[in-house]
Amino acid sequence: MDRIGIFFGTDTGRTRLIAKQIAKKLGELAAAPVNIGRATLANFLAHERLIVGSPTLGDGELPGESTGLSQPSWEEFLPQLADADLSGKTIAIFGLGDQQKYPEEFVDAIGILHDAFVARGATVVGRWPVAGYEFKASRAVDGEHFLGLAIDQHHQAMLSESRIDAWLEQIKPELLR
Ligand SMILES: Cc1cc2nc3c(=O)[nH]c(=O)nc-3n(C[C@H](O)[C@H](O)[C@H](O)COP(=O)(O)O)c2cc1C
Repeated sequence: MDRIGIFFGTDTGRTRLIAKQIAKKLGELAAAPVNIGRATLANFLAHERLIVGSPTLGDGELPGESTGLSQPSWEEFLPQLADADLSGKTIAIFGLGDQQKYPEEFVDAIGILHDAFVARGATVVGRWPVAGYEFKASRAVDGEHFLGLAIDQHHQAMLSESRIDAWLEQIKPELLR
């Protein structure tokens, strides 16, 4: 079985750190995390099972040149998937955000990535309860769940590791199926 591919976008490095923590916890099961701005489409498509991470920047947007990054990121990568067939791929998404400063668009990037992957046939796993967070609106919510793991390193950093551990236990059987 190929290793789980881990791809992340980041501005100030928090999402990279979480991606590295996830990779360390998965050990041999995962490949080293790759910044999506440096990944080719072939790198991404080489994996049947993926964990992807992104902060939400701008006004509920993916990171990229329009949110002020000097490097390409998810904003530039996503259009490359336009003609890609992701059927057969299983993808889990985690997102970083700030629920106090951006309560109307908390972790929106999870929702943007989810919709893009599902539209191209991927199976997205790893929904996470909204209980325990305080925000008003998010593109990442369906009912009582986020469409991936929400991480807030500004206001709930103490909870992040236990959230990651529980989420990995939840998604491992789905990714390794
Ligand atoms: C200009 C700017 C806009 C942001 N917009 C949002 C947002 O719309 N929603 C949200 O949940 N977080 C938002 N954030 C918070 C970031 O997602 C958060 O700081 C995250 O940890 C950054 O991750 P990084 O270090 O990987 O770039 C914003 C941060 C900045 C600096």
